[in-house]
Amino acid sequence: MPETERRPHVRALQALENADALDGAGKAIGKSVRNGIGPGALKDALSGTWLGHALHPLLTDLVISFLVSATVLDVIGGDRDGKAAERLIAVGLASYPPTVLTGTSDWADSEPVDPHVRRVGLAHAAANTAALGLYSASLMSRRGGHTARGKALGLAGSGALAAGGYLGAHMAFAQGVGPNQTTYDPGPTDWTDAADSGELAIGAPKAVVVADTPVMLLRHGDGVHAIHDRCSHRGCSLSDGTVDGEVVECACHGSRFRVDDGSVQRGPATQAQPSFEARESDGRIQVRRRAP
Ligand code: FES
Repeated sequence: MPETERRPHVRALQALENADALDGAGKAIGKSVRNGIGPGALKDALSGTWLGHALHPLLTDLVISFLVSATVLDVIGGDRDGKAAERLIAVGLASYPPTVLTGTSDWADSEPVDPHVRRVGLAHAAANTAALGLYSASLMSRRGGHTARGKALGLAGSGALAAGGYLGAHMAFAQGVGPNQTTYDPGPTDWTDAADSGELAIGAPKAVVVADTPVMLLRHGDGVHAIHDRCSHRGCSLSDGTVDGEVVECACHGSRFRVDDGSVQRGPATQAQPSFEARESDGRIQVRRRAP
């Protein structure tokens, strides 16, 4: 077993990722979230489609910075009457609702892609809920005149917050939740053979692999369109989706992209699909990356 996998926290993470006992609750909660926040304006607002970037990570930075700053003041001093720490905790707690809402909406999109993400996401939420409870109790204690107890609760809250942050970082950096799923295979720079012209019927998307890049081909009224086939949101194949005129809708979470330029028409995707130039020559379809 590699050294890294012997470390206790790595083994605990692996156990969490494989904890299928969490699936009953996770699936039920995820389903109700998806039913409550379907594709549309609210989902786009929460996902960060308007921002061109996921919104949740930005909000988590606010919560963490306010609450941890309060704990730092508690530990190193410099806040003689305790009012600064109190205010920081109050602002940190006020930052929770939009952070929870955006995170819950993002987490619900772990279906149908990856059950491991769903399980880690549940633990991430539980840790942050514990931090919310501990910092809320800390604020009440301080306001009730129990400063020492308030500081101890804040310190415990910062531990829960760190656990939540660790799990969130694991989802983003180890499990790949959030990055543009098309980033690492930009497609060929030169004209490259993609398919036989006869294989492409009008309006029926076809998935091909060109220079190690998955590409969706679509014959439309004005020729052949080619965009990256892996949805930038969570990586589902767009050629499994539904075509409506010049737009393809991803079958997983309903993101819509124009087939001529890959632009996002509806989230939860926040990033456009790379689009490719396409031409037909001697009965073959060829594609290449568009000039930036
Ligand atoms: S994978 Fe989520 S909308 Fe495509």
